Amino acid sequence: MAQESVRGRVVVVTGASSGNGKAMSLALADRGARLVLAARRVELLEATAREVEDRGGEALVVPCDVTVREQVEGVARAAEERWGRIDAWINNAGVIAWSLFEDTTEEEFRRILEVNLMGCVYGAWAALPAMRRQGSGVIVNIASLASLVALPVGSAYSVSKAGVFALGDSLRRELKGSGIRVCQVMPVGVNTAGFFHQRTRGFRLSKRVAPFLQDPETVAKAVVRCLEKPGTRNIPLGIQGKAAFVFGALAPRLVDLFGGLVARGVQKGDA
Ligand SMILES: NC(=O)c1ccc[n+]([C@@H]2O[C@H](COP(=O)([O-])OP(=O)(O)OC[C@H]3O[C@@H](n4cnc5c(N)ncnc54)[C@H](OP(=O)(O)O)[C@@H]3O)[C@@H](O)[C@H]2O)c1
Repeated sequence: MAQESVRGRVVVVTGASSGNGKAMSLALADRGARLVLAARRVELLEATAREVEDRGGEALVVPCDVTVREQVEGVARAAEERWGRIDAWINNAGVIAWSLFEDTTEEEFRRILEVNLMGCVYGAWAALPAMRRQGSGVIVNIASLASLVALPVGSAYSVSKAGVFALGDSLRRELKGSGIRVCQVMPVGVNTAGFFHQRTRGFRLSKRVAPFLQDPETVAKAVVRCLEKPGTRNIPLGIQGKAAFVFGALAPRLVDLFGGLVARGVQKGDA
């Protein structure tokens, strides 16, 4: 299938103030996309916008909390008012938090679902009317390895990302023949502020894991591929993602064994 150029396309990125969202915004700016940058921290969004403009790109900053549907719809309205269309919507905003299930509060569990899952639901609802009118568009969900292999000490996060993955696959099937594509990227562990500042209960993340993590630029490249290559569906990221996918499918008991060891370590407080 012929590659499609990103140049001039209007792309909404949620969570563009930091980490993966910022990296993909810059990678898309390098290829000439017109960017709508959404998140809560406006100063950081403006910093992303300045870097986009330094690269010769165009950016529109729209403050938005993805847990509030009207605000997400406001992002779509702002994009259409400015550029008259929405060519791609990247559902990237998300939070990461680790806690044993029995220690997780209802409020924490709900919050993770609201940001990670409902944020994508509101994003898709907001993007689809414009894409339907155009008869074209790409929705990209930043899911996770946890969408495919549920992680111990991360039930809420895993549930949210499994939900995101199911949403994306379901939508792709519903939209077949509409001209609208749905792709999902599944990173493993990415060296972002989000990874190192995530909430943990019962253990601390060591900075020593940093060399084993993926770069936000790797996530950005996968997003560019989703936009440029029409045949793209879901991308388990890197060798780690592909290995975890294969292990999860072929050796689930081994994954249970390893997951159990991790959970017991956290229970005993020795991790
Ligand atoms: N890092 C990893 O290891 C990893 C692995 C797999 C998947 N992912 C996924 O990658 C995505 C980005 O994460 P990251 O690692 O880049 O973390 P990050 O650096 O913390 O970035 C998270 C982004 O989400 C935004 N966000 C959070 N809550 C929001 C809300 N309620 N409304 C609007 N925006 C919100 C943040 O912006 P504001 O705070 O300014 O609102 C920020 O821009 C997430 O979906 C995450 O699950 C990350």
